[in-house]
Amino acid sequence: MALRPTAIRSVLARQILDSRGRPTVEAEVTLANGASGRASVPSGASRGAAEAFERRDGNPDRFEGRGVLGAVAAVNGEISAAVVGHGAVDQRGLDSLMRELDGTPELSRLGANAILAVSLATVRASATALGQPLHWRLADLAGVTAPTLPMPMVNILSGGLHASRGMDVQDFLMIPMGASTYGQALEWTLRVRVAASSLCEEAGLPTLLADEGGLAPGFADGADALLLMVRAFERAGLRPGEDVAIALDIAASSLTDAEGGYVFHRAGRVLDSAAMIDLLTDWAARFPIVSIEDGLGEEDWAAWPGLTQRLGHIQLVGDDLFATQADRIDRGVREGAGNAALIKINQNGTLSGTLDAIAAAWAGGFATVISARSGETEDAFIADLAVGVAGGQIKIGSVRTSERMAKYNQLLRLEEEGFAFAGFRSLHAANA
Ligand code: PGA
Ligand code: ZN
Repeated sequence: MALRPTAIRSVLARQILDSRGRPTVEAEVTLANGASGRASVPSGASRGAAEAFERRDGNPDRFEGRGVLGAVAAVNGEISAAVVGHGAVDQRGLDSLMRELDGTPELSRLGANAILAVSLATVRASATALGQPLHWRLADLAGVTAPTLPMPMVNILSGGLHASRGMDVQDFLMIPMGASTYGQALEWTLRVRVAASSLCEEAGLPTLLADEGGLAPGFADGADALLLMVRAFERAGLRPGEDVAIALDIAASSLTDAEGGYVFHRAGRVLDSAAMIDLLTDWAARFPIVSIEDGLGEEDWAAWPGLTQRLGHIQLVGDDLFATQADRIDRGVREGAGNAALIKINQNGTLSGTLDAIAAAWAGGFATVISARSGETEDAFIADLAVGVAGGQIKIGSVRTSERMAKYNQLLRLEEEGFAFAGFRSLHAANA
């Protein structure tokens, strides 16, 4: 069969290992004209129930059941047979074709990890074929005319499932909101990270790394972690609340018990939804907190509007709540559940579906935060995505370990192209 130059000629997947040493899928897509693209898929620990399905082999003899040879075989067999000959420039058509081939809403038959690897590798191949850098190709697919550099939201202290539940709250992050360039934001972040590390050391607390490269001091009371954040800002010579502020990822779904209560193991208490809102309101009053992610659980739709009413003057991000699904974000907009959406490509399962989720957030006046997972690879795709779609903010983890630095460094390269820096205050209006 004679193929058009930009048609897919071959698809090849393999099993590689992520930053936790767990298997994940990598795919290579080659077009008839020889252009090719490669991409790999991240993996979360605090996984939302509404996420696209991550297919694992379940064979206890290999990688504790976490192998992805089944997903790899799906790419090399069924998916390859269906997509070879398909035009790579028609990304949406390709993504729909794979979704239909799978036939399930959560992509559980072939595996979202199989489909996403092909989806992302294809856009890299088509960018090459069109002579475009990836971020511009993504901008075109998203209908964005002015890419921007995102404001980083950076993990400093870790708890929850990323640090053996040493603290109840999963992420204590910083936003260098007073920085005027991405480069300055990154430099301030490193200063804070170093200061936090020495404060831990001086207090006799561990300085070993959690899953995303953050520190894991293991405070029983979240307020102590918040205090350490403020001290780290001050030691870095930055003004808390002006130069730099705090963001939290409570990851409340991973605290939920069978009755819907929020179990703070380390603090030794169980909070109902109202008490959780009170706790977050108290913290936001006492500390310079400008963003809270998953302050309530993914099933707690009834309580989310109350959280938004109390704390809607700051950013309230839905991660597990929305799971990067446009219909869940639409529901959040309708019901007043938060005012921002976390965007994780593998929660959705295709590039086009991810772009739809971003569009749904903006249509509802919600901000977006393009996010990595706790299990990452050296693939810096989300850095190009955040810039190309002008996502506004990016959450990569801490400024340690190469699977994280690959993204921060890609943003440094993209900064050379002179894109505007998103800043923080323009958030909610940014994409209207
Ligand atoms: P995960 O964590 O990748 O383990 O889900 C990231 C987050 O909760 O934002
Ligand atoms: Zn989260």
